[in-house]
Amino acid sequence: MSETPTFTPRVFSGIQPSGGLTLGNYLGAMTRFVDWQDRGTHETIFCMVDLHAITVPQKPETLRHNTRELCAGFLAAGIDPERSILINQSQVPEHAQLAWVFNCVARMGWMGRMTQWKDKAGKNAEAASLGLFAYPALMAADILIYKSTHVPVGDDQKQHLELTRDIATKFNHDFGVELFPITEPVIEGAATRVMSLKDGTKKMSKSDPVDASRINLTDDADTIARKFKKAKTDPDPLPGHAEALDARPDVRNLVNIYAALDGRDVGTVLAEKEGKMLGYFKQELADLAVEKLSPISQEMSRLMRDPAEIDRMLARGAERARAISVPILEEVYDVVGMVR
Ligand code: TYM
Repeated sequence: MSETPTFTPRVFSGIQPSGGLTLGNYLGAMTRFVDWQDRGTHETIFCMVDLHAITVPQKPETLRHNTRELCAGFLAAGIDPERSILINQSQVPEHAQLAWVFNCVARMGWMGRMTQWKDKAGKNAEAASLGLFAYPALMAADILIYKSTHVPVGDDQKQHLELTRDIATKFNHDFGVELFPITEPVIEGAATRVMSLKDGTKKMSKSDPVDASRINLTDDADTIARKFKKAKTDPDPLPGHAEALDARPDVRNLVNIYAALDGRDVGTVLAEKEGKMLGYFKQELADLAVEKLSPISQEMSRLMRDPAEIDRMLARGAERARAISVPILEEVYDVVGMVR
């Protein structure tokens, strides 16, 4: 009997450079990435997924700008390009090469069930790009080209990570190997789903046409404060327990954001703030957000003044990533039967 292989503990995650990092990306993803990096128990690889961004039309110059700005965001949030590997997806060609193999492993039916595909393609699926449909196979390739064991993400990526496990399982089974690990999704913290400031039942998103619905990491202090003060709430004071917020999604969202920014759990925050009126709480939240986010946006602008340095960092990241991805792709090609 063959022994189950042990995989190097390795974390991978990615963010699309599709413009404007939000507080959702920051709390749901970036702060978690920094935690993994700082814990030091796993190798950590973080990626700007430019190939994913082009599944919908992008202006070339804007895409280049957004990719560099996202890199600045990673650095400003605390990703250290020495301790982590920081890459731009298209600079590591093995992602796209493995994605092709996965296009031949994944089934049409699996892809058709993805809620993100249904939401994004909408009623006009005939006119959507083939890339948008195949998007989750590329995402599985991002993760598995490094045999990553853990993937921290926000709640909206859960279904894609289940598909990644299905692809790994089917590949291993079809070829009678244990080449890929069955990756663990890591969806944790107080802000796995940051909601719109204008509608607590809708996800905060960079594609929402209403700018006041989200906090952008590039917003200045006044804008951040104004957006929180104008966030939708209700006239009741804060309760002492999280269950009492079940029917108050807008307020629950603000409390979750406060807890995540402050690195505490929701129960502790509510125990302290019970009875406070929302107007007062929103002011406290605005102050906390400005305190935490302003240094990040300032650092991002500073880094963006030297794009050549960002490009150098990405080139170095790609070189380090390829030391891992090239041998894994070779292994895959051998298993599949490619002559090399
Ligand atoms: P993207 O670019 O939409 O979002 C990047 C990360 O931010 C999280 N996120 C949120 N978390 C909490 N509340 C929100 N409102 C919120 N909005 C976004 C997302 O869950 C995600 O973790 N398909 C991915 C990118 C990707 C990827 C990967 C991720 C490509 N390959 C491999 C992990 C592993 C995406 O579009 O994320």
